[in-house]
Amino acid sequence: MSEELRSLLWTGSSLRVLDQVRLPFEWAWIECTSCRDVYDVIKNMNVRGAPAIGVAAAYGMALAAREAINRPDPAQFVYDAAELLKRARPTAVNLTWAVNRSIREGAPDLGRDPEAVAAELTEFAGTMAHEDEERNLALSTFGATLFEDGDTVMTICNTGALATYRYGTAFGCIDAAFQKGTRISVIALETRPYLQGARLTALELVHAGIPFRLITDGMAGFAMERGMVSKVIVGADRIAANGDFANKIGTYQLAVLAQYHGIQFYTAAPMSSFDFSLSSGAQIPVEQRDESEVLCFAGQRVAAEGAHAWNPSFDVTPNELLTGIVTDRGIFRHPFGRWE
Ligand code: MRU
Repeated sequence: MSEELRSLLWTGSSLRVLDQVRLPFEWAWIECTSCRDVYDVIKNMNVRGAPAIGVAAAYGMALAAREAINRPDPAQFVYDAAELLKRARPTAVNLTWAVNRSIREGAPDLGRDPEAVAAELTEFAGTMAHEDEERNLALSTFGATLFEDGDTVMTICNTGALATYRYGTAFGCIDAAFQKGTRISVIALETRPYLQGARLTALELVHAGIPFRLITDGMAGFAMERGMVSKVIVGADRIAANGDFANKIGTYQLAVLAQYHGIQFYTAAPMSSFDFSLSSGAQIPVEQRDESEVLCFAGQRVAAEGAHAWNPSFDVTPNELLTGIVTDRGIFRHPFGRWE
């Protein structure tokens, strides 16, 4: 596996975040020393990808507990920090999951000595980071079995090491297959408007040495019609109890196209991306981002002044369109609903 690209580094007293807004041309790290800093880097998408956001938020809780030491009501400060972090982005469940777990399991008694709470939450964030690494490695190993020599695998957005603490999810499966010698190639979608495919996945593919071609999102159907795609694998930001899932905008149309063309369509995600409190994908909150991302391309306005845009950052794919869900517990297939 290619391991060198890292999204987050804990220094012992701060969280270093690789600024993904500037990639692939500039490698800059943002130093987060407060919970507010972590909120900002998640909201501004300097760090993005569901599992990476979850781990960043766990470190945000650790930083909040450190800041709380000299506050009049340290416990309340940490609770407020938790609420702030959860508001940073709404769709990826890993964020809320990580924050809630930090309070429930990391420091169950926030009324205790604030120094002890800070130490506990720092250790817990490290545990969550390590867990994410292990889950992604496990799911990548399961997912690698899906691919055969000669496969061309289509993917959207970025689901590699940059989107996780380590290894990646959908990208991790592709990479694990390639690294064990399966002769596959990739078609990566550029992923308008934020260009995670063009800016980040292309970088990860180059880095891993996997042969690929980048296409614009609108080329996906024609590529399938021309027989250029044998499988599709994507990530997930939140999977409901029935298997419906939210992922980057454009995923749903890929699933519909894949079914029309008889192409297997998978999502890959750690169990931390499941939200069993939701019975279906209709209940998943979908982040709406600023219209300027659509009205502009790479920071340059392309639509006429006076034009307005719609900019949902995710869409929801119904479970019927899925061939399977790759997780750290194995590959689930229809009928979905039994997740043990
Ligand atoms: O808006 P982003 O870049 O955070 O969206 C990321 C995705 O949609 C990924 O596919 C998903 O988070 C899984 S990442 C392993």
